[in-house]
Formats: sequence, C-alpha cells, structure tokens
Amino acid sequence: MTDLSQPPLPGTLPDKRQVAASFSRAAASYDSVAALQRAVGMALLEKLPSNLAPARWLDMGSGTGHFSRVLAERFAQSSGVAVDIAEGMLRHAREQGGARHHVAGDAEHLPLRDGCVDLLFSSLAVQWCGQFASVLGEARRVLRPGGVLAFSSLCVGTLDELRASWQAVDGMVHVNRFRRFEDYQRLCGDSGLELIDLERRPHVLHYPDVRSLTHELKALGAHNLNPGRPSGLTGRARMQGLLQAYEQYRQVQGLPATYQVVYGVLHKPSDGEQ
Ligand SMILES: C[S@@+](CC[C@H](N)C(=O)[O-])C[C@H]1O[C@@H](n2cnc3c(N)ncnc32)[C@H](O)[C@@H]1O
Repeated sequence: MTDLSQPPLPGTLPDKRQVAASFSRAAASYDSVAALQRAVGMALLEKLPSNLAPARWLDMGSGTGHFSRVLAERFAQSSGVAVDIAEGMLRHAREQGGARHHVAGDAEHLPLRDGCVDLLFSSLAVQWCGQFASVLGEARRVLRPGGVLAFSSLCVGTLDELRASWQAVDGMVHVNRFRRFEDYQRLCGDSGLELIDLERRPHVLHYPDVRSLTHELKALGAHNLNPGRPSGLTGRARMQGLLQAYEQYRQVQGLPATYQVVYGVLHKPSDGEQ
C-alpha cells in the first residue's frame, strides 16, 4: 500500500507482481482470518441505494469471492464478473461460484468494455492501487450511465500502533503506507462521478499479543510490501523491542490495532443529468 498523500515518486509504489503473488499465496488462509474484511464488506453493502437492481455487477479486487457470492445472492437476477490481480485468489473463488466470470486484471486498467456494468463493488482492494484517480477513471468508463460505484479502502491512521512501535525500535517502515482521507475526498470530487456518500470510520481489533497480529497480516497477504521495507528475518532483540513498545497501547481487551476504513458511494450521472 502506498502513501499518496505525497506526489507519486518512481520506485515508491508497491510492485503489483508482488501484491499479486502475496495475495495468491494467501488464498487458502485468507477466509479464516478475514473478520474485519467481512464486517467492512457488509457495512459497504448496507450503503448501496435500496432501489438498486443491477443487471450486471463487477466485484473488483474480489479476493476469495466471498462478496461475489453475497452479491449473486442479493441480486438473484443479475450476472457478475469478479476481477482480481491475483490468479491464486481467482482460482480459489472460481471453485466456489458467485460471479459468472472470473477475470485476471488490474483495477487501474480494467479488462472490460465501456459501460458494461451497473454496479462496481470493491471492498478493501483499492488501497493497493498507486493511482486512485486511474481507478476512478476506470470506474467511470465501465459503469453504465446511472450506475453505482461502492468502494471501501484504508487511509492514514491504519495500523498506527504497529507503525509507531516499529518506529521506536529501528526507525524503519514496517507497515504499508496509506493515502490520506483528504485525498480520497479530493479525488472523488474530481472524478466526474457524483458523490453520494464518503466517510471514514475507525474499526479497532484486539489481539492477545503482537505475534497474533503479524501472523494474521501475513495470512491475509496484507503484510508490508513497500519498496525499501526491511528485509530478512526479524532478530530476537528487535522483536523483543517491538513487543515492549507495543505494550504501551494495551487495553483490557488486548493489544489494539486500528483500521481507518474509508467508505465511498458514487453515482455515474445518466446522460440527461450530465
Ligand atoms: C484484502 S483483499 C479483499 C478481498 C475481498 N474484496 C474481500 O473483501 O474479502 C484485497 C484483494 O485486492 C486484490 N488487488 C490488489 N491490488 C489489485 C489491483 N490493482 N487490481 C485488482 N485487484 C487487486 C488482491 O489480490 C486481493 O485479492
């Protein structure tokens, strides 16, 4: 994930091949640890306009296909496409149904023709895209006039306890970077789509210890992939330092990990509305 609060700099974006490989490796373990992802996707579904009846939907960054199956059930008369950059995720999803088509592709360059979907649903995927403006441009292109884009993502403030604890140990970046909420606001405002709803909500998870959190991030395929991340194994002394630094955040429920979740719903104006 990339901090796009700064202008993009060559070499600072996560390598998409690494993102795809990491999620492909995580396909088998992902569902067992995806409680937050489930909750966020369900909250995003609740934000869809109540009268929405898409003939064709796209689940972008579909992962294991959990929400493709939910969409297929909710819109029983519809037909769906699942797009993901990770072949391993698509293989896993394809076996379980939901979308009619499973297509490998990048949210910034969708392998779909213009105006072919009524609903573009994307939960917790676009934080991996360096150019959110390109994602919005593609959404505008593939949506039919009158269509809806519903996305969730992560912004600055996410995993700050882990980031700050590592910072105290070695001053290095061990946590993925995120765009600022203000950048989501600006980019959505400039997208040519009509903004229906954009909000940021904190979700806080609790863990008995730091290892449970870092193992979960790995099982999700969402551990640090930033260029310049520290390489190699974490030495015992540094790990000890991390555990100690994180302890200052401990609450009665355990060690907190904060996710700042962005929810956005946008509408492509019909021809008469433009
Ligand atoms: C955290 S998972 C979310 C999966 C699913 N939407 C869910 O809520 O369970 C993120 C997914 O986005 C995919 N992804 C990351 N970058 C992408 C890109 N540029 N284009 C399409 N998919 C991407 C990953 O491969 C992964 O399957």
